[in-house]
Amino acid sequence: MASLIKHVSPWRFARFVRSSKTAFIPCVQLHSTAVMGASVEDFNKAKDKLNTLKKDPGNEVKLKIYALFKQATVGPCNTPKPGMLDFVNKVKWDAWKGLGSISQEEARQQYVDLISSLVGAEAPAVAAQPTGGGKTFQTLLVSTEDNITTIRLNRPDKKNAITVEMYNELIEALELAGKDDSVITVMTGNGDYYCSGNDLNNFTKIPEGGVEKMAKDAGELLRRYVKAYIDFPKPLIGVINGPAVGVSVTLLGLFDVVYATEKATFHTPFSQLGQSPEGCSSYLFPKMMGAAKASEVLLFNKKLSATQACELGLVSEVFPESSFQSEVWSRLKAYAKLPKNSLALSKQLIRGLEKEKLHAVNDAEVERLTERWLSDECMQAIMSFFQGKSKL
Ligand code: COA
Repeated sequence: MASLIKHVSPWRFARFVRSSKTAFIPCVQLHSTAVMGASVEDFNKAKDKLNTLKKDPGNEVKLKIYALFKQATVGPCNTPKPGMLDFVNKVKWDAWKGLGSISQEEARQQYVDLISSLVGAEAPAVAAQPTGGGKTFQTLLVSTEDNITTIRLNRPDKKNAITVEMYNELIEALELAGKDDSVITVMTGNGDYYCSGNDLNNFTKIPEGGVEKMAKDAGELLRRYVKAYIDFPKPLIGVINGPAVGVSVTLLGLFDVVYATEKATFHTPFSQLGQSPEGCSSYLFPKMMGAAKASEVLLFNKKLSATQACELGLVSEVFPESSFQSEVWSRLKAYAKLPKNSLALSKQLIRGLEKEKLHAVNDAEVERLTERWLSDECMQAIMSFFQGKSKL
């Protein structure tokens, strides 16, 4: 389908976005004051920057730009689905619809992040403020602004499930964020989910070496992925914009602060999937919640509401959905003005003593999971998901 819009040059696309009916909605119809990360002014500037792009960012990115623009200016997609044969409009409609119910404010922020990461990727290497390490990712939106590097999981149509590619990109994005000039790093999701965990398709691509090789490679990737969090040198803050599942939940014990919308839920259905906990949760969750509460979550698949997760210490604070983005981002902007080295060194004090232990826990969890992935129990559960029998 993407090839159907291949003929649209970035220039024509930019013109299309600007000239679509909603492009001329006066700014005051958005929000007259900056209530979150991206103000109307930032949004308008980002629109202008779109014209300065020299390289065609590709059809997928152009569709994302289109969808975010519509969401930011009109709101969630409520227009009728175009007919089957109206290919181009259907692809655009799908992209817009895929953003779900995210607020106009959030869409504006994501639009700004996306454009600035594209512009940053084209900027000369000597640019004073690298944006996302100057790199464009396929499955993430990464940008640096106001001393905050934001890593946004970006597969909204798949509930931000983590593919092998996304694991690798997250490792790289964390490595770049750890070294860049930002003071804090934020992880969040694009769309109505934070993340639905491991992409279960990762288990269906069997390499030449067979399932044993698949499990071994997956284990190694998971080990490196979790290690990137254990070793992350500066404050890492989770902005949990919707439901979180599996590894996206277990890793939260390695974040320094976690803010959640009231809409978020936290679910680790490992035994339901014939698997076992990862992300150091087998150690950190009982430590945080007490063994009895952690066992309900890690053994018996108990799904936590945001409030419950906050009571158990997994989440720092819960916000009403209507003010989530504005309250959280104004707080984060204030945090990012604090002295960088003081924050990083204090984090080392808080986490440093445990590092060795956490690496050992990570190794043990990966070893157990690698075995579990080869078990009949796990294979059955994954097959059931794809046969549509066992949605969580
Ligand atoms: N792996 C692979 N694909 C996933 C996925 C995952 N973890 N989570 C969501 N998706 C895909 C769905 O297959 C669907 O794809 P399709 O549009 O091609 O059919 C798409 O994302 C949208 O998900 P859908 O199931 O239609 O949305 P929903 O709101 O009804 O349900 C979930 C969302 C997360 C409850 C459901 O998708 C689910 O149970 N996912 C599996 C989660 C899981 O087991 N994760 C691993 C934990 S260890």
